[in-house]
Amino acid sequence: MKIFILGGSKGIGLCLTKLALEKGYDVTVMSRSAENMPIVHKNLTKINGDGLDLQKIEENVEKVDVLISTIGTRNNKKNQNLFSETTKNLLSAINGYNKLLISVTGIGVKETLDKAGFLFNKIILPFFLKNIYRDKNIQEEIIKHCNTQWIIVRPAFLTNGPLTGRYRIVTDFNNLKVGKISRMDVAHFILSQIEDPVYLKMAPVLTY
Ligand SMILES: NC(=O)c1ccc[n+]([C@@H]2O[C@H](COP(=O)([O-])OP(=O)(O)OC[C@H]3O[C@@H](n4cnc5c(N)ncnc54)[C@H](OP(=O)(O)O)[C@@H]3O)[C@@H](O)[C@H]2O)c1
Repeated sequence: MKIFILGGSKGIGLCLTKLALEKGYDVTVMSRSAENMPIVHKNLTKINGDGLDLQKIEENVEKVDVLISTIGTRNNKKNQNLFSETTKNLLSAINGYNKLLISVTGIGVKETLDKAGFLFNKIILPFFLKNIYRDKNIQEEIIKHCNTQWIIVRPAFLTNGPLTGRYRIVTDFNNLKVGKISRMDVAHFILSQIEDPVYLKMAPVLTY
């Protein structure tokens, strides 16, 4: 199994890279600073590249089975379009091929907006994440209308805590109460879906 991780050099993507290599998969990581990743492994290919560069993505996805996007940014600029544009690039690059796309978005996107809690909705989202989340909403819309297999992963509030393998995978958002989830456990879920994609065309929330 060959896995391509856009944004695999840090955060959830780096956790997933480690878990996938431990399982014996071939992993290609692309990010702007992938070559500085703190891992060396015979099954790991590191590509320095920007997800906004379609040609660079096209050059690297032809032979992969699964494409993952764990891309992230703190740049909340007005015209933020990193999530939607990189998603378009991934989909354009695999157009016509039968591949699985797994993308991380987050709690608070689409129908989970009012499930993220008062602090998130009244302060964090409007003052710090408005443009990022506007673009993540567009990203989910693009994925939901694409013509390949997909899974959207919506983590609750991320921590750098340990891998537990014990978390809730929520698809019915009535009465949803969200808390935290470690990046390692999000990576654990993504890996489980690579191996047995039971959440196809779904967008579960992950939370403890
Ligand atoms: N923080 C939370 O509580 C929370 C909750 C739910 C969901 N999320 C979402 O979860 C996702 C992962 O977050 P994280 O904190 O684990 O990740 P992160 O540490 O922010 O890492 C983001 C990754 O994206 C790469 N990246 C950024 N811009 C890129 C570009 N233009 N081209 C290629 N790669 C690029 C970065 O590498 P380079 O810099 O080398 O390019 C890095 O590998 C994000 O989408 C975030 O919004 C976060």
